[in-house]
Amino acid sequence: MTDAYHGNSVIENWRNPRGWKAVATILSIVLFITLVGLLVYVTGGTAFVWLNMMYLPIILAAAAYRVPGGSAAALVGGLVLGPFMPLHVSQGIPQDYANWLMRTGIFMIVGIVTGFLFTWIDRQYDSLKQAYDQLALSHQELQRTQLELIQAEKLESIGRLAAGVAHEVKNPLAVLQLGIDFLAISGGDKESAAEVIEEMDTAIKKADRVIKGLVDYSRFEKLDLMVQPLNPIINEALNLVKHEIMKEHIVVESRMSPAIPPVAVDHGKIQQVFINLFMNAVHSMEGGGRLTVVTSQKVLGGEDLNGFFLPPSQFASGDNVVIAEIIDTGIGIPEDKIGKLFDPFFTTKPLGKGTGLGLSVCRKIMELHAGWIGIRNRKEGGTRVTVLLKPDERSVSV
Ligand SMILES: Nc1ncnc2c1ncn2[C@@H]1O[C@H](COP(=O)(O)OP(=O)(O)O)[C@@H](O)[C@H]1O
Ligand SMILES: [Mg+2]
Repeated sequence: MTDAYHGNSVIENWRNPRGWKAVATILSIVLFITLVGLLVYVTGGTAFVWLNMMYLPIILAAAAYRVPGGSAAALVGGLVLGPFMPLHVSQGIPQDYANWLMRTGIFMIVGIVTGFLFTWIDRQYDSLKQAYDQLALSHQELQRTQLELIQAEKLESIGRLAAGVAHEVKNPLAVLQLGIDFLAISGGDKESAAEVIEEMDTAIKKADRVIKGLVDYSRFEKLDLMVQPLNPIINEALNLVKHEIMKEHIVVESRMSPAIPPVAVDHGKIQQVFINLFMNAVHSMEGGGRLTVVTSQKVLGGEDLNGFFLPPSQFASGDNVVIAEIIDTGIGIPEDKIGKLFDPFFTTKPLGKGTGLGLSVCRKIMELHAGWIGIRNRKEGGTRVTVLLKPDERSVSV
């Protein structure tokens, strides 16, 4: 990250050049001074305008070696013109030794002042660089903290899901117990034993799937984007909250388009977004309702941008997007609260049921994916949450 700043810097590379760079720089300046000296000589001497060309090597020397460089070049550049004077005097061109010394003095002043100016630029550059480095560091720190916050929220949600998952495992365990009892009593009948063993096998696989789902979900990972289809992630999230959905007698309607292009996402984090959204929907429909999950793909039109308040920096009219919508028939959101939902710790739920971190973490996760999430009330009652992702570019057929 810091390379973008340091790597491009001419200041950094040509400040006090050392080694071969020093040799190259000093030789170029000496050559430059010599050439200007010759130019002055052939154009008629120090009384003429070409003399001013001498400022160029002086400024370059000050740029490379600051005050010492500028003054040294000025001294050499001034003195080198001296030997021409007798020659020109002999040609009848007027020359003045006092002028020559004063000119060398003026060269010196220019060299020293330019050197100081470059030193001043150095200091500005250094403090800018320091500020930049600090900024990069706190940016890293911030990113780490954000990932930790996301993980903390995830752990909190796992705590909530654990009871349901335990419940989900209880049924297969009961099947296993029954099977063992059966086999213990009637070990002889091969045909029915095979049937029971198959049932037990299915039960073990089911329990394993449920537990594995939770274990996979709980894993802490850095942001790891992989191109994959979105629907299975949503289905896994649905599976993890299945128990809470059933407990509230909520009907799930799934309208996921199999045709949507894959997206480049972090599996666990996107799953976390949908678990949050499903849990919110469940909480808003205590006693029953309908949860509709829709996925689709569309090209954004101008009206979408207005309707969703999309960040124009990320989405523009004509963009291809993958859309997931979670629609509930719950209590909806009071209009005066709708602007606060994504604030951290905003919750209308009692302690133990909500922390108010869910939606703020969802938004953060969507930001990390250059995606977007928005929530609105529906005219018919309940809410509609819209999640937007950009499809993986290589997967979109044009
Ligand atoms: N589907 C929804 N229906 C109604 N209100 C919702 C819905 N989703 C979120 N909210 C409101 O937004 C608040 C914040 O949600 P969230 O950030 O997930 O925190 P929490 O769920 O812990 O309260 C909730 O307390 C609730 O008031
Ligand atoms: Mg929540």
